[in-house]
Amino acid sequence: MFRLSGKVAIITGAAGGMGLASAKLFAKEGAKVVATDIQFDLLQKEVNAINKSGGDVLALELDVTSPEGWKSVVEKTIKKYGKVDILVNNAGIHIAKGILEAAVDDWNKVIAINTTSVFLGMKEVIPHMQKNGGGSIINISSIAALVGGASDGGGAAYSASKGAVRSLTKHAAQNFAKDKIRVNSIHPGAIYTPMMEKSGLSREAAIDLLKSDYPLPPHVGEADDIAYGVLYLASDESRFVTGEELVIDGGFVTR
Ligand SMILES: NC(=O)c1ccc[n+]([C@@H]2O[C@H](COP(=O)([O-])OP(=O)(O)OC[C@H]3O[C@@H](n4cnc5c(N)ncnc54)[C@H](O)[C@@H]3O)[C@@H](O)[C@H]2O)c1
Repeated sequence: MFRLSGKVAIITGAAGGMGLASAKLFAKEGAKVVATDIQFDLLQKEVNAINKSGGDVLALELDVTSPEGWKSVVEKTIKKYGKVDILVNNAGIHIAKGILEAAVDDWNKVIAINTTSVFLGMKEVIPHMQKNGGGSIINISSIAALVGGASDGGGAAYSASKGAVRSLTKHAAQNFAKDKIRVNSIHPGAIYTPMMEKSGLSREAAIDLLKSDYPLPPHVGEADDIAYGVLYLASDESRFVTGEELVIDGGFVTR
């Protein structure tokens, strides 16, 4: 018996970083996974590797800002696996521009990918969870939704987008508890994924830069540190947990 036996999960942004780590862990724990990303070739390559080691994962291209894209992914999920038990809204981007530097286009892009996507995903999946007698939705927010300062890497729209994910999670948790649908948010601190790599920092440089903000060694987390939290919230082990904020940040917000 595995922790997600018999469950069907949709994960966004699964071609790398936390989304990929969650897809691998879910497959290992017995879930059937629909892994989605806008980078389809990379996603398919990663999914092939998971399936080679015994997973049951379907790769689908999805731009999370597209309502039609969401409709198609959910339809294909129901066709192949018959239901959706778990939705992980993980896809996201970061633009390191403050209020004075960001253009309106930067703002709109970040809000669309980080926040509107969460609304669209829940809108499409919740009716199926209602029919199915319940489900678990995990929205990846950030410590930027909780505190200011270094938490948002200098991104004004990023901060706002993740704050909105936090409050939208609570809205959904209240409204769909009656349907046994649980909705929780995860608030990662600095995690070494392709997102951080793209900013030009090596892991060692990131640790050096961040160790005074993140008291718990190794001072910068790994994608698996988040995936284990996602797994807990996805599984029935958290059946009495909803509207909660799981902070995984090496102690950043405790300062
Ligand atoms: N890495 C961190 O330090 C950190 C900290 C706090 C929160 N987060 C959040 O965690 C989540 C995962 O981040 P990560 O670090 O693994 O990032 P990542 O860049 O490694 O992975 C994000 C994935 O999202 C995909 N994506 C981007 N735009 C998309 C779109 N329009 N449609 C579909 N997919 C799209 C990318 O292709 C990528 O595979 C994000 O929501 C991010 O904001 C990250």
